[in-house]
Amino acid sequence: MTPDEPTMEHELAGWNPFKRKPPAAAKAPRQQAAPTAVVKPLVREAHRRAPESGTLPRFNTTASDQMSGRSADRFSAVRAKLRHAFTPSQPVADRRLFAGRDDVLKTIIRSIEDQRLHVVLYGERGIGKTSLLHILTQAATEARYIVVYTSCGANSNFDETFRAAAAEIPLLFHSGFSPTGSEAEKGASLADLLPNEPLTPRKFGDLSARLTGTRVLIILDEFDRAESSAFRRDVAEVIKNLSDRLGRVQLVLAGVAADLTELVEHIPSIRRNIFALRVPKMSESEVLEIVANGEREADLKFDSQASAFVVEVARGSPYIANLICHHAGHAALDAGRSTVTPADVASAVDRTIQEFQGRIATPAQQHVRRLFDQGRQDVLAMTSRASLSADGVFDAHDVETVNTISARKAQDAIEVLLSENLLKPMAGGESGARYAFVEEGLPTLIWMIWAQRNLNREATAPRAATAS
Ligand SMILES: Nc1ncnc2c1ncn2[C@@H]1O[C@H](COP(=O)(O)OP(=O)(O)OP(=O)(O)O)[C@@H](O)[C@H]1O
Ligand SMILES: [Mg+2]
Repeated sequence: MTPDEPTMEHELAGWNPFKRKPPAAAKAPRQQAAPTAVVKPLVREAHRRAPESGTLPRFNTTASDQMSGRSADRFSAVRAKLRHAFTPSQPVADRRLFAGRDDVLKTIIRSIEDQRLHVVLYGERGIGKTSLLHILTQAATEARYIVVYTSCGANSNFDETFRAAAAEIPLLFHSGFSPTGSEAEKGASLADLLPNEPLTPRKFGDLSARLTGTRVLIILDEFDRAESSAFRRDVAEVIKNLSDRLGRVQLVLAGVAADLTELVEHIPSIRRNIFALRVPKMSESEVLEIVANGEREADLKFDSQASAFVVEVARGSPYIANLICHHAGHAALDAGRSTVTPADVASAVDRTIQEFQGRIATPAQQHVRRLFDQGRQDVLAMTSRASLSADGVFDAHDVETVNTISARKAQDAIEVLLSENLLKPMAGGESGARYAFVEEGLPTLIWMIWAQRNLNREATAPRAATAS
């Protein structure tokens, strides 16, 4: 790159994302129960303030998603669309908003369809497992599969989960019943054939082996939340049973795990019958697709530097990409623009830091900030980058390659954070010792603080406004 080529630093120059707005007029102190003598003046005071109550925050849309006329500004419609365009707190179920993942989906579909395998999807929190399952459900439903989606909980048990699944399978697909028979006509299901005693994997397998003319996918999302080892054992058992009997029912399990064995106990018995896939980080172009989908959906434009900035901050996480785009979009609208600038992305980073702070224990946060203030930001940034790219558990080699630094420097960075008790050793991998941050949210918080501080430092000259 020549010195004159525009860089993000040039684009960001001069603008200070951290310049705070002047403080709003001080709010009236909270009124406490007061002796009668002072009640009257307070009441009069309340009357005087009454007209101002029109300035209190209001909802912009009604519960039926209609614009509330009173609060409509010129961007109200865009604001309403923005809510659907970037959904950091919900999985994506709309194909128009589902970015990338072509290869992952193709691989899952091939293993279900061609190899008749059961599928285990695993990966870090927020990487997009549930969204993938939603889109897989749509594709399978289009191919006339019966799809039963279940989100597991701490108390999930085999009987309840598979009884509910059986209730979704019409009896007309059971080979022992005629599709025109009276039971099938009455809308009976496989659940009507189940015994009163607790359902066993064998019984469920027996019934599934009698299915004809359809295929069933039973999706067990959040499988890691199920605490009962009996449930996990029974699920492994049913996978074995279904596979041995060439049943027309296939299972898809998904959950948070650094590796597969964490997710499925009793794995050796079913290893041949499952296809396991770790949901990878998103590529740069996949994150850009999230931005582009949202732009189209919300009628907003991210300028190219703002998009590049989102990619840099998200580091392959669709969750962070959605969160940052959501806040950045609102920041632009608040400033009266329909073009999102790097400044808006930076203020979105501020908002994200505030949100993450609520999720991490205060001493750990203070510790991290102290280290930043002591000039250890490189050590923090390098290790958090390695952690984010390796689903939380990383080794010195990850630190070395992700940051293109020497092995020695990578090891030093790890030593510093081990001595600060911010890293903990994990069970060793093939290439030696592995580590994780002591709290799950720390690497993201550190990465955001790094982005915030560095952008601030790089902002040295005024940037032309790109108001629309
Ligand atoms: N392919 C995608 N395109 C656009 N946004 C996505 C995609 N995948 C995930 N997201 C977004 O990322 C966030 C996390 O997605 P999702 O809930 O599917 O992840 P998850 O792995 O199931 O998370 P958890 O482990 O918490 O259950 C959501 O905000 C979702 O909107
Ligand atoms: Mg999920």
